[in-house]
Amino acid sequence: MKEFSIVIAGGGSTYTPGIVMMLLDNLDRFPIKTLKLYDNDAERQAVLGEAIEIVLKEKAPQIEYLYTTDPEVAFTDVDFCFAHIRTGKFKMRELDEKIPLKHGVVGQETCGPGGIAYGMRSIRDMIELIDFMEKYSPDCWMLNYSNPAAIVAEACRVLRPNSKVLNICDMPVGTLRRMSQIIGLTPKDLEVRYFGLNHFGWWTSVKDKAGNEYLPQIRDYVAEHGYLTQVEVDTQHMDQSWQETHKKAKDLLAVDPRFLPNTYLKYYFYPDYVVEHSNPEYTRANEVINGREKDVFSTARTIIEKGTSKGSEFSIGSHATFIVDLACAIAFNTHERMIMIVENNGAIANFDDDAMVEVPCIVGSDGPEPLAQGKIPEFQRALMYQQVTVEKLVVQAYIEGSYQKLWQALTLSKTVPSAKVAKEILNDLIEANKEYWPELK
Ligand code: NAD
Ligand code: G6P
Ligand code: MN
Repeated sequence: MKEFSIVIAGGGSTYTPGIVMMLLDNLDRFPIKTLKLYDNDAERQAVLGEAIEIVLKEKAPQIEYLYTTDPEVAFTDVDFCFAHIRTGKFKMRELDEKIPLKHGVVGQETCGPGGIAYGMRSIRDMIELIDFMEKYSPDCWMLNYSNPAAIVAEACRVLRPNSKVLNICDMPVGTLRRMSQIIGLTPKDLEVRYFGLNHFGWWTSVKDKAGNEYLPQIRDYVAEHGYLTQVEVDTQHMDQSWQETHKKAKDLLAVDPRFLPNTYLKYYFYPDYVVEHSNPEYTRANEVINGREKDVFSTARTIIEKGTSKGSEFSIGSHATFIVDLACAIAFNTHERMIMIVENNGAIANFDDDAMVEVPCIVGSDGPEPLAQGKIPEFQRALMYQQVTVEKLVVQAYIEGSYQKLWQALTLSKTVPSAKVAKEILNDLIEANKEYWPELK
């Protein structure tokens, strides 16, 4: 069987150890020749890099391994790049969340002004990664988790239309896992129909392989409890604030009980509620810094101190499952059905061809083939058109260096009440993002 070489870009990410552990669990179906980590923050990456070196020596010493900040070393001779970078790191995520909140507006990593600010930072770094990949390994596939995935995907469509980059999100997978638990099955038993944009979509069908429809049963449960399930379902999305998000899905469902909503619609349907329930001094970035980041890095430090991973293992979750399954689908032409972010081109019949949408696809060696989801109702279509236009305007603002277009993007966002507030937020974001954004005129 062919052995694959992988580079993880954003080697210092809190998700890197989980993905490595998942790869190690899957060596029989996805053999690895070389594993490399790449990050532009040497110090941060070294902590995880050194701990992973110890894990690999113990569990799979045959794998060639290195971690580096040199793009040539990182991207030479690789088949896959798993990317999950965070331009500006948690320091900037914190500002993305806190600046809008100061103006009484949703402060969120990927939705509303925070997501727009993060998009303006991410585009340049993502394009740089793609160019490194194509220069040093022209046949390589990039499987990209880096957020904000909707804006990154649109930037890829416009700026690198022929590149082998697949933008993905773990939220549909994570929520399907909850749904499967509600009906007593596993995610692999289920096939779904789904339409939307990234962090902005709906399930229209959840069937088992025999064709039995479970949507009504799941809907009855969600109408009462949201996606809150009784037992632990994952290592991810478990903090108290996530539990509240899962629960809030019942109020999302109420707006249109025909379909099962993506949890992220909360920021668009109930922005007032979100602002009221946010602490402007302590946002999700602070929770992650004091939670996941601390846990992952302290596990790494313990492994390094003890010189062994025995007794202090990194954990894995559905986030890692999805990216490894996707790599397998491409490597072995499995034609697995997966929800991906792709150019619409008719998949949603009454939506723009050139919109980056999120729909089920059949994935094989040539990448994803989107499955037709038919026509969507006018309510969802109108919401999606507003949101996708925000995303397009951000990418245009980035390319043209246009203050006007970015102001329009913020004004159009459903999370922002007026052009006046949009402008005030924009001016604060420009100040905070000086190091990262192109100059706007
Ligand atoms: P993190 O800050 O722990 O990790 C990001 C790493 O990227 C850091 O080590 C940072 O130094 C590095 N980095 C930043 N710019 C870089 C560049 N230009 N080149 C190389 N490395 C660079 O963040 P995290 O919480 O682990 O999340 C990582 C990313 O994954 C974020 O973008 C997050 O939003 C995304 N994510 C996406 C999904 C999804 O559904 N698409 C799910 C989970 C996480
Ligand atoms: C989900 C989303 C990701 C997002 C993450 C944030 O998994 O799909 O796109 O990055 O949540 O989680 P966090 O724990 O960092 O707030
Ligand atoms: Mn996501």
